[in-house]
Order: sequence, then structure tokens, then C-alpha cells
Amino acid sequence: MPAARTVLITGGAGGIGRAIGAAFAQGGDSVVLADLDGAEEAAKPLGGRGIRLDITDETAISAALDEVGPVDVLVNNAGLLSVHGRLLDLPGADLLRILSTNVHGTFLMTQLVARRMVERGEPGVVVNLSSIGGRQPTPGMGGYESSKAAVDALTRWAAIELAEHGIRVNAVAPGPVATPMLAAAMPPGSPAHDAWVARIPDGRMAAVEDVAAAVVFLASPAAAHITGTSLPVDGGQLLT
Ligand SMILES: NC(=O)c1ccc[n+]([C@@H]2O[C@H](COP(=O)([O-])OP(=O)(O)OC[C@H]3O[C@@H](n4cnc5c(N)ncnc54)[C@H](O)[C@@H]3O)[C@@H](O)[C@H]2O)c1
Repeated sequence: MPAARTVLITGGAGGIGRAIGAAFAQGGDSVVLADLDGAEEAAKPLGGRGIRLDITDETAISAALDEVGPVDVLVNNAGLLSVHGRLLDLPGADLLRILSTNVHGTFLMTQLVARRMVERGEPGVVVNLSSIGGRQPTPGMGGYESSKAAVDALTRWAAIELAEHGIRVNAVAPGPVATPMLAAAMPPGSPAHDAWVARIPDGRMAAVEDVAAAVVFLASPAAAHITGTSLPVDGGQLLT
């Protein structure tokens, strides 16, 4: 039985974050969920820890990492995905808000966790949550999509520089995921739901478990020779 790793998951109270936490806990790892709100409640059923954290606040991240102790696996899952608008309409301040969480926050978490891994001289793993939207546009979603294209670049940047320290960095890039929030916003059978599904060759949205399984794989020794990639979990949507 391999030793339990400490896995820190940002946005851990959200739909995908909870599923990622459950998948690592099921594999015997120690899970720490971090979120603006609700992390403690989300961590309880996993036998894990929940902490309040804003990933855009550098001082708060340092304090949280001091409290959590050594992290073996960082999952940068926190993201802002509800702010959208077409190019001619989106307020510039909204674009900055998206980039601040999805890009700057992911950068800060990666930098501060990786510094500690390097100082300890221990290998480590980072898995980022990207989106196939970073590679395939949908009208009205370009601000979010730009942030995820940047997450893919950040993944490659971190991977090439951290490889010499034994730290692997990859991303998982889902298409639309049937989280409770999304299911409420566009229930199966609604025109919005059906329009999304019509773009997916295998005929369904991703389940949160599909995404969690890919994250767990990329964090596992089975992926020991994989770094710098962004793995689509999209039922073939990028093929269309
Ligand atoms: N749901 C989808 O269809 C989908 C598709 C592709 C990629 N993704 C990505 O997956 C990740 C998780 O998405 P989700 O669907 O579970 O969304 P969600 O909104 O349910 O979860 C996101 C979580 O991030 C947290 N968060 C936001 N800003 C934060 C901050 N500054 N500090 C700490 N936590 C913060 C939120 O509180 C929330 O709990 C996101 O990065 C998203 O972009 C989602």
C-alpha cells in the first residue's frame, strides 16, 4: 500500500472539486479542500480537511500552506466560470476578474506550492483544471476561454521549469460537465442542454467522475512520464 499523499484541491466545495476530493480520498490519500466558502462541510464526508482560502490573495495562500504543511499534489480547480459576454459587450473589468481568479490565482498557487516542494527537495504533482474552450470557441464565452488558454500555457511553463525538481505539471480540459449547478441551469431536455450535447460525438456531457478520474490518473505514478500536457475529457468535442 503506497503512503497517503496530501492532496490540496482549490475550489474544493464546487461541483467538480468535491468529486476530485472524493476520488483521491477513495484511493487512500489525505484530502484538503480549499474554497472561499463551504470547504469544511464538503470535506467532512471525505474524512478530509476544509480551509477557507482566496487563491487571489498571496498572503492568505502562504498562511494556509504554513497551516496545511507539506503538499504532495496540488489540484488547481478553483475557477470563475459564470461571467460571460460577447466581445462587443463584455465590460473590461469583468475580463480582469476572470483572469484574476483563473490565471493569476492558479499562478500564485502553483508558485507558492512549488517553492515549498523545491525547498523540501521532494517530488510533487500539479494538475490544473483547464477547458477545451481554451482551444475551441463558443460565442459569448471568449473571456473565460482566454483564461483557460492561459492556464494551458501556464501548465507548459511550469512543467518545463519544474521538471528538473521532479515536479510534474499537467492539466485536464473538460468539455461541458454535468455538475449540479449546470444541471440546474440547463436541465436535460432543455434547448440549452441539447445544443451543448449536439456538439459532443459520444452524445453526453462529462460526469464529474469522468473529470476526477483523469485528475487522479495524471497525479498517479502511472503518469510518471507525462508532463506539460492538457488532456481533453470531452467525449470527442474537439474533433468536430
Ligand atoms: N462545469 C463545467 O462545465 C466545466 C467545464 C470545463 C472546465 N471547468 C473548470 O472546472 C473547475 C471547477 O468548475 P465547477 O464546474 O466545479 O465550478 P463551481 O463553480 O461549482 O466550482 C468552482 C469553485 O471555485 C471556487 N472559487 C472561485 N473563486 C475562488 C477563489 N478566488 N479562491 C478560492 N476558490 C474560489 C468557488 O467558490 C467554487 O466552489 C473550474 O476551473 C472550471 O473552469 C468546468
